[in-house]
Amino acid sequence: MNSINFDYQNTSQMSETDLHAAFTQLVPEIDRIAAARNSAYNNEYASINLPFDQELLTTICATVKEKKSLQPTALVVIGIGGSNLGTMAVLEALKGKFYNEHHETKVYFVDTVDTDNISDIAQLVEHELETGNNIMINIVTKSGTTTETVANFEIFLQILKSHRPYNYHQFVIATTEHDSALWKLGEKEEFTLLEIPQQVGGRYSVLSAVGLFPLCFLGIDIKNLCAGARSGFEIATSQSYDQNYAALSALIIAHHYHRNRIIHDTFLFSTALKSLGAWYRQLSAESIGKAWDKKNNQINIGLLPTISIGSTDLHSVAQLYLAGPDNRFTTFLNITHNATDLVLPQYDEYESLVENIQGVSLATIMNAILNGTKTAYQKDSHPFVSFTLPEKSAFYIGQFMQIKMIEIMYLGYLLNVNPFDQPEVEKYKKEVRRLLSVGKEEEF
Ligand code: PA5
Repeated sequence: MNSINFDYQNTSQMSETDLHAAFTQLVPEIDRIAAARNSAYNNEYASINLPFDQELLTTICATVKEKKSLQPTALVVIGIGGSNLGTMAVLEALKGKFYNEHHETKVYFVDTVDTDNISDIAQLVEHELETGNNIMINIVTKSGTTTETVANFEIFLQILKSHRPYNYHQFVIATTEHDSALWKLGEKEEFTLLEIPQQVGGRYSVLSAVGLFPLCFLGIDIKNLCAGARSGFEIATSQSYDQNYAALSALIIAHHYHRNRIIHDTFLFSTALKSLGAWYRQLSAESIGKAWDKKNNQINIGLLPTISIGSTDLHSVAQLYLAGPDNRFTTFLNITHNATDLVLPQYDEYESLVENIQGVSLATIMNAILNGTKTAYQKDSHPFVSFTLPEKSAFYIGQFMQIKMIEIMYLGYLLNVNPFDQPEVEKYKKEVRRLLSVGKEEEF
């Protein structure tokens, strides 16, 4: 099987004997996740079935075809947290940071309610409509009731309605849970509706219509993304302990968590993977940061997930990382083959500034920096593991994401917390609703 590489030997500070023994602890959970493969969307592991769902792929491809026939020049994706982080991660990894500069169909991600930022995007979108172009709005919210998402949607819907008063519904796709309040409103409004299965939580939903519709619309090969995720599932449910990267990674992270390494840094040696790091940060923080364990004992547990970019952050936080408190575990992530190969000119007069880089490729320099960083970590006894993707393709990004989603399920099991809920997030949402209702009464 084509697979990403996972390297932990000599760097994780766990012996093979300890890892093998710890792996047996996980076997019941591995069996449960493997068995969930045949239970459709009927239990909390539902998300693992998404990349196997051919009907879903057919629906997405047909919807994209239908909407593309309206020749839109911009897609506005309105959603927050699990409803947009995965989409941004895949798009940036595969198309880079300058998507809008290189493509005729622009994409605008709208999440928080920052009025100046939303105004900027609204102006760009309105310009498209004024010049006679069509735009698409994809509102993505599982609950259908997230304040920021609904507020932003209303702003963009108003703009759309003012330019397309009679057929605006054709340009709206609502991705939400079946029978949510938004679903019902969408039916009345005749929006196109895409369903998020009830048992698929936001941060595990990138391979549902949440991610697949906008990604396919923007030209990502979602069939290969799902094929990669299917292979990621095989790896993550392997019974051979040294082949199961999701289990190994979870076991090593948990081992260090119990030794006070409560920060988990994902150190990305590819700038296009920054949003992938942000996606993982939310996946880990919301899944593992918990006040109560599964038996209702108060434990206040969690790993602080951080993101570092190589080599940028070596000039920012490396001093702290190498000299500061020993409270961090690191996962390095890099790419073997980049899409391009920039080589420095042979400027011998510059040899006096930096030696041995004339005529050398940037990738070679980056590799030297990555390996130098890892050696420094090893010399100072900072534990780490390394994931290496052969290339930035839809297949390997899908594989990596599925391995990481299952890794987090294993971590939840090892730390005895429910990785699928987020009760504390509800607290702030409730307070916002209360403040807004008070504000209404008191002209807030
Ligand atoms: O992962 C999660 O469940 C959350 O981050 C949600 O995705 C986020 O709060 C947005 O919720 P919704 O999709 O209901 O608007």
